[in-house]
Amino acid sequence: MATRSRPSWPSVPSPRRSTRTTLPAVALPSIVLAESLPEAAVVAVPTTRDDDGAVLAGAAPVPIDGLLTREKAKGGAGEVVAVPVVGEGPLERVLLVGVGDRGPADLRKAGATLARRAKDAASLAVDLRGLEIDGPGLRALAEGLLLASYGFSRKAEPTARTLTAITLVGPVALRRELDSAVVVCGATAAARDLVNTPALEKTPDWLATGAQALLTGLEVTVLDEKALAKRGFGGIVGVGQGSARPPRLVQATYDGGGSRHVVLVGKGITFDTGGLSLKPNAGMLEMKSDMGGAAAVLGALRAVADLELPIKVTGLAAVAENMPSGTAQRPGDVLVQYGGRTVEVLNTDAEGRLVLADAIAFADLDLDADVIVDVATLTGAMPVALGKRHAGLFASDDALAAQLEAASEASGERVWRMPLVEDYRVALDSPIADLRNIGQPKLKLNGGSITAALFLREFTGGRPWAHLDIAGPAMSGSDEDELTKGGTGYGVRLLTAWLQELSAQPAARRTGARRTA
Ligand code: BES
Ligand code: MN
Ligand code: ZN
Repeated sequence: MATRSRPSWPSVPSPRRSTRTTLPAVALPSIVLAESLPEAAVVAVPTTRDDDGAVLAGAAPVPIDGLLTREKAKGGAGEVVAVPVVGEGPLERVLLVGVGDRGPADLRKAGATLARRAKDAASLAVDLRGLEIDGPGLRALAEGLLLASYGFSRKAEPTARTLTAITLVGPVALRRELDSAVVVCGATAAARDLVNTPALEKTPDWLATGAQALLTGLEVTVLDEKALAKRGFGGIVGVGQGSARPPRLVQATYDGGGSRHVVLVGKGITFDTGGLSLKPNAGMLEMKSDMGGAAAVLGALRAVADLELPIKVTGLAAVAENMPSGTAQRPGDVLVQYGGRTVEVLNTDAEGRLVLADAIAFADLDLDADVIVDVATLTGAMPVALGKRHAGLFASDDALAAQLEAASEASGERVWRMPLVEDYRVALDSPIADLRNIGQPKLKLNGGSITAALFLREFTGGRPWAHLDIAGPAMSGSDEDELTKGGTGYGVRLLTAWLQELSAQPAARRTGARRTA
């Protein structure tokens, strides 16, 4: 028997400080474009359906005459007819893969299927020469291939990746498109790693240190609990005060020039027990993912920097662990948010909005943001309304909402616009403080995701703002298309696609001037 190697992660961290500072990333396969077919263990050939309904494949390296008809192939996205190959040479299998309508969504799905079907082979070549593939199509195919290859493990003996090299045979002129897919997928994998890491390891300090490691080359500052208290971040301090592992605020800036300043804000609750308003066990199971918004913001910032986009972006991650203890905040406590507004905390499980409010107010009051977008696993009501695949999109500005909807279409990360219902604002009035942190139940207005968004809006200072409630899509219950079970890294692709488009448009005038009431 092989000697059992030591696990590569350190022993259980001390309660206050985690020793682990590097990210546990397992590298994704490499992917390149080539003009001719290389030697590979698996060769994939796309199949399409012509106008008469006949399914056709490009030139295959082995004879396949009549095979698609015999196998009743339809050419639908991700359909696979496998052809085992006997004989000498490295070629083991040919996969005839359906690419559906050849649009980005179907190509992404086909790529994901291929990555799973070829995962035990050493190398995969995808022959695109029979397909007229454009930039967005190539990007989507590459995203499917790379993201479905992602894995995360804390097993004592993790299985090594077998598929390490992917070649796309086709238009080498699209190299830049491929490079940008590689960047975005690398950043998504980093975000997934952050989400998948168990909260035992993932202290707020670990996440802040991990952010610094991920964002090397950028200006990153971290405020610790003392600095947060001194500077008046009462929301982050209040939520974090019940934990033995103190809170952090991470601020990272990438300045690629241009006249716009975009501020991204992420909810970074490393574990959400609910605090003294304790969650039942079932409700707590996935709560290591309650920092998925922060992971998305950090990942997007990494991607924007790697792509050298001509834009200035600041990322803020509001990081705390929400725990019940003798030092925890109590229902009925009143805290003072950054900027001075007071909030009556009637449910300590509505903690995300408290940490976000500080960061959003900071973006408004100190950073002179032209636009603020926050990303948060904010409400359990959101997946009840939209299911697991769509994020709720709330926006104070129709143009911004339209930009994010376009980025959603391009990236494949789905959003659905939600209303900021003015009539529900009264539910947040408190008799003793400026706001209450949950809607007044007596008013029977419901709409928990909407009141949460209205709460956040109070801190935006009237600047163009959007809020993405990702409580549904931050985690996937299974391997499905480009998603892998666990953290999805939702938001990295969407935000990066948005910033790519935004940075390509000249900022004619500053639209972000603070609208004072
Ligand atoms: N982190 C949760 C929201 C959540 C729930 C995310 C399920 C992902 C899956 C959030 O902090 C929370 O607990 N929200 C409460 C708000 C309520 C107390 C007003 C909720 O949704 O129940
Ligand atoms: Mn909560
Ligand atoms: Zn939460």
